Amino acid sequence: MENLKNKKVYIETLGCQMNKSDAERMFGMLEYMGYEKTEEPKQADLLIINTCSIRKLSEDKAYSQIGVWGKWKKTRPDIKIAFSGCVAQQVKEDLFKRAPYVDLVIGTQRLYELPELIKRVEAGERVCSCEESPYAEKDYKINRVKSINAWVPIMEGCNNFCSYCIVPYTRGRERSRDFINIMNEVKKALSEGFKEITLLGQNVDSYHGKGLNGEDINLSGLLKAINAIDEYGKFRIRFVTSYPTDITDELIDTVINCDKVCEYFHIPMQSGDDYVLKKMNRRYDVQTYEKICNHIRTRVPDVTITSDFIAGFPGETEEQFQNTLDTMKCLELDYSNTAAYSPREKTVAAKWVDKFIPEEEKVERLARLNETNRQCCVISNEKYIGRTLEVLVEKFENHDGKNVISGRTRNNKMVHIPCEKDLIGKFVDVKIIGSKTWYLKGELV
Ligand code: SAH
Ligand code: SF4
Ligand code: F3S
Repeated sequence: MENLKNKKVYIETLGCQMNKSDAERMFGMLEYMGYEKTEEPKQADLLIINTCSIRKLSEDKAYSQIGVWGKWKKTRPDIKIAFSGCVAQQVKEDLFKRAPYVDLVIGTQRLYELPELIKRVEAGERVCSCEESPYAEKDYKINRVKSINAWVPIMEGCNNFCSYCIVPYTRGRERSRDFINIMNEVKKALSEGFKEITLLGQNVDSYHGKGLNGEDINLSGLLKAINAIDEYGKFRIRFVTSYPTDITDELIDTVINCDKVCEYFHIPMQSGDDYVLKKMNRRYDVQTYEKICNHIRTRVPDVTITSDFIAGFPGETEEQFQNTLDTMKCLELDYSNTAAYSPREKTVAAKWVDKFIPEEEKVERLARLNETNRQCCVISNEKYIGRTLEVLVEKFENHDGKNVISGRTRNNKMVHIPCEKDLIGKFVDVKIIGSKTWYLKGELV
C-alpha cells in the first residue's frame, strides 16, 4: 500500500446518523488502505459524496456538489469522485449518464466492498456496485469522529413501507447485526474513551440477534448486555429510532432498570390525524400513539419524548393539519423534527399528484408546525428550572468572551454552563437556572 501513503480522502456526508456512521466505516477502510483524512476537499485525491434521498432538497444538494467537483476534474484529471449513500442506491449506473466524471457509484449495502472498488477505480476503471445484499455487515474497520458519543448501528433497513418514505428502497429489508460484533464495537468505543453509546437503526425495536449460546436477543436484551459492561467506567446508552407500536413493556422496564440507559425515546408520529396516518400507511391511530406516550410518561420519570412530523402530506386538509398541531400541543412533545412533504420517486404517495398540496401552502403549514414545536420546547424546558441534573459535557467554547461548557442531560436536554475549565467527557451535576427555547442554562453545583 506504500504507493497510496500520501493520498487524501474527503467525505461529505448528508442525511441521517446512519450515513454519518457509514462515513466512519468508509474512513476506517480507506485509512487501512493508506489514505489520510482531510477536511479540505481541494486537497483530496479521492472525493466521496455520501448522499441522502429523504427529500428532494437533500438529493439536489448531492447533485450540485458533484457538479462542482466534476469541474475541478477538468484541471485535475487525476482526482477520483465517488457517489455513495441513499441516492446512489437509487440511481445506480444511471448516474454515469448524468455525471460522466463520477468514477464510483457504491450502494448502501455494498460498503464493505469499498477497498476493492477503490483499487479498481485507482486502476482507471469506472465502477458501479449497488446490488442488494442479504448481509447486515462485514468486519469493518472504523475511524470514528472523535467525540463523546459513538453511534453504533445495530440494524439496517425497513419493512414498513410508509407511503411517503424512500428508506425501504434505499436501505433494503430489515437486517440485524451480529450481537458479538455489536458488543465488540461498543467495547472498542468505550476503550477509546467514548462516554455515550447510541444504538442506531431505522427501527431499533426490530433488532433480533443471537447470543453466545444461540439464544434470541431483542433490543432489551442488547441494552441489558451493554448496560452490564463495567470495565470502562461510567457511560450512557441511548437508542434511536422507535416505531410507536413496537415499544414494549419489556423495553420500558429495561429503560427503568438499567442505570446506563437514558430516559429518552424518539418516536416519530408523522401526523396527528387518523385519516392521514392511514394514508401514510402508519400502523397506529392518534389514540394509540397517545396511550404509548402517556404510558411511558407515567412509568419513566423525567422522560423526554421527541417525534417527527410531516406537513402537507398529499390530500391533507386544513382541519387534518390542525389536528396535528393540537396533538403536538396536547401531548406536550418535548421536541419534533419537522419537514414539508416531498414526493419521492417509487413511493406510493408520490403517485397521488392530484392530491398534492401547493408549495406555498406546505411552506405555510410547516411554519405553523415549527411554531407549535417551538412552544412545546419552551414548555418542556421550563419544567426543569430549579432542578439539579447530571450533564455529560461535550463542548468547551468561548461565547462572546465567556467560557462555556455544554452537554446533555440523561433525558437529552442541551445545557449551557459558564465554566473556566475544559470538562469535556466529564459527568457534572448542574443546577438549572434558566431556559431558552432550544437549551437550558445551568451552573455547576
Ligand atoms: N424510521 C423512522 C424515520 C426515518 S426517516 C420512522 O419510522 O419514523 C426520518 C424522517 O423523515 C421521518 O420520520 C419523516 O418525518 C421524514 N420523511 C420521510 N420521508 C419524507 C418525505 N417524503 N417528505 C418529507 N419528510 C419525510
Ligand atoms: Fe420510512 Fe416508515 Fe420505514 Fe420509518 S418506518 S424508515 S418512515 S418507511
Ligand atoms: Fe437519508 Fe438514507 Fe438516512 S435517505 S435520512 S441517508 S437512511
